[in-house]
Amino acid sequence: MAASGSRSLLVAANRGPVSISAGAAGREEVRRGGGGLVSGMVSALSEVGGLWVCAALNDRERAAARRAPDGHLAEAGYDTGGLDVRMLPLDPSTFARAYNGIANSTIWFIQHLLYDSANTPVFDAGWRRLWAAYERYNRTFADALAAEAAPGAKVMVQDYHLNLVPRQLREQRDDLHIAHFTHTPWAPPEQFGMLPTAVAREILTGLLGADHVGFHSRRWSEAFLRCCGRFLDADVDLAAGTVRWDGRTVRTGVHPLGTAADEIRAKAHDEDAEAGLAHLREVIGDRKVISRVDRTELSKNIVRGLLAYRELLRFRPEWRGQVVHVAYAYPSRTDIPEYREYTASVQRAGREIEQEFGTDDWDPVLLDVANDYPGSLAALRLADVLLVNPVRDGMNLVAEEGVVLSEHDCAVVLSREAGIADQYGQDALLVNPYDVTETAEALHAALSMPAAERQERWKRLLSAATALPPADWFRQQLDALDT
Ligand code: F6P
Repeated sequence: MAASGSRSLLVAANRGPVSISAGAAGREEVRRGGGGLVSGMVSALSEVGGLWVCAALNDRERAAARRAPDGHLAEAGYDTGGLDVRMLPLDPSTFARAYNGIANSTIWFIQHLLYDSANTPVFDAGWRRLWAAYERYNRTFADALAAEAAPGAKVMVQDYHLNLVPRQLREQRDDLHIAHFTHTPWAPPEQFGMLPTAVAREILTGLLGADHVGFHSRRWSEAFLRCCGRFLDADVDLAAGTVRWDGRTVRTGVHPLGTAADEIRAKAHDEDAEAGLAHLREVIGDRKVISRVDRTELSKNIVRGLLAYRELLRFRPEWRGQVVHVAYAYPSRTDIPEYREYTASVQRAGREIEQEFGTDDWDPVLLDVANDYPGSLAALRLADVLLVNPVRDGMNLVAEEGVVLSEHDCAVVLSREAGIADQYGQDALLVNPYDVTETAEALHAALSMPAAERQERWKRLLSAATALPPADWFRQQLDALDT
């Protein structure tokens, strides 16, 4: 067993709770990451003096992590808001290969069913070099966690970047209580089996190093269990949600992450968001608003969303001039070529709608592919209809934030393939994300819904969206490690 450290609670995630960037006059600026998930985990860590282990994401962070003793930012004078953060200065090529080449390409594409299987993926010698980097990147995390964790500590490993960490860590520290949580969907065995067999097995056995493996939806946990049965021939109990493997029983759990309503409301009413709201109101007037907010991300299905809006305007002409589609699609993972191409397709689809229907006094689409967070919150406040139509999604927090922020009891047109569809059920208008015509009809139904019905549905959606806020979500998983 490796020597132990002093931390009784550790979180490991690719992205840290703080980011370091260039500030005014060349000075470094440390910013606390936004979002309820970060706040929820930070508050639990702060209570017990826990540690967050993350990767340095760019040159500036790498330099800072190297300067800090063992990567502990606070010890080098960085203001981390009282939180202990250990940032790992992985070499740039290992990081880029693991993050862009494997996590956000291969694993992301497999779990979200994004491959065009006539052409991709291709698992050749070059790809195997990327995979070796992913193994090294995971091992760097496992080694750091092994060194920092106190005997019997709880280690909460987050997401698909770190699928191998639970096993790598257990091999060094069998005394630890290890949880892993996957924030994406999990692919059915047919798609998961596209991976090279040894890699599919390595991912599954990597996760089975944990005591508890969490997902947002039962659909994803069952798919994971089926993959364990198919590719490891493990003893799987679907009803109990357990896998017996390598002499241990690993439990799966379903913890659907909700939103921190007060936090997001406060942000949506700050000065910048109010300015964004005033601007949108001026442009839109008293027309109805269909809003969407996403990272420009292939799984978010923004292009089919725009095509559905085009069908609405084509086949329900009564909405021409009466509605505006506000679509915020902020940049994401721009180092990956597919993402850059996708952004261009989104812009093309938006332009085509403008050309077909725009008039001197009506812009049918307000599409923004820049990073305007306050503007996107304003768009959610204005929503009469919220469109969330991912091809697949682990959960989809915008579907929750939009319901919390809408000042018009918004109706929600929702892909049945998003994890949140389990909670919203028929209170949303559920659609097949590939079916543009069905989505267009759902938009029409949402725009036409009587106010009383919309309000009743919205109230139930609101209580589902806020049922398990991040701090409770995190605590539930800590408790799951005790049972
Ligand atoms: O959906 C999975 C997820 O990890 C989310 O939790 C998060 O919003 C997103 O992907 C992060 O992506 P990235 O760190 O690449 O921006």
